[in-house]
Amino acid sequence: MRLVLLGPPGAGKGTQAARISAKYGIPHISTGDMFREILKRDDELARKVRRYVEAGDLVPDEIVVEIVKERIHRPDCGRGFILDGFPRTIPQAEALDEILEADGTPISAALYLWVTEDTAVMRLSRRRVCESCQAVYHLDFNPPRSPGVCDRCGGKLVQREDDREEVVRHRIRVYREQTEPLLGYYREKGVLREIDGNKSIEQVWEDVQRVLDPLAECGDC
Ligand code: AP5
Repeated sequence: MRLVLLGPPGAGKGTQAARISAKYGIPHISTGDMFREILKRDDELARKVRRYVEAGDLVPDEIVVEIVKERIHRPDCGRGFILDGFPRTIPQAEALDEILEADGTPISAALYLWVTEDTAVMRLSRRRVCESCQAVYHLDFNPPRSPGVCDRCGGKLVQREDDREEVVRHRIRVYREQTEPLLGYYREKGVLREIDGNKSIEQVWEDVQRVLDPLAECGDC
């Protein structure tokens, strides 16, 4: 399955993508996580992307497309992948289609997790992430077993720089202006599947599986 996960900041894309990856055996490719890894380095690319990510703006299309193209051509993507946070603009979606058309492997589905702005802000203000393995927690809805420590790898849990409320509100505006048009793009192609992301993590996961189980059974999807 080749999946795209759409939705505003805080919709739960990373949370559901981790479960999708584990259940269906396809790699979880998060462009946000890739950029946060790049930012740990001290090189030309890190200097180029830092100001965009920290301000909550989109990194230029040509940089993102190159990184994703290289990633989805690695051997572990042979059975598919789930793209979390990409594409985020119409030119990125067109570039992805071109790459996949050349490979003869079109997108199976674009899952759209929708949430209200209040839900998004409330979730992001209480989110914590592992600085080592990037696992995602929420202080109320998905807390770690020991405060401040990652269940998975024992790493330190931190708040993301771009989860400050003013940056979150800016990211939501950027999403509305630049990413929401993708809903029409994928609807027209007949691959958009909408899921109410305001429900609990378990309820959303039930709905996601209801959409994906039939696709997983279809060999050509
Ligand atoms: P990115 O990391 O992709 O951020 P985002 O899209 O803003 O999404 P988030 O990670 O904030 O939210 P999410 O939907 O994954 O929610 P999560 O599961 O964590 O991008 C960061 C930056 O990188 C961008 O601003 C940009 O600069 C750059 N970038 C990335 N991709 C790019 C691209 N393609 N082009 C250009 N630039 C790009 O959940 C949020 C919280 O809620 C967590 O605490 C979680 O535990 C909790 N939670 C999740 N689901 C539920 C639920 N159902 N009920 C209760 N709590 C829940």
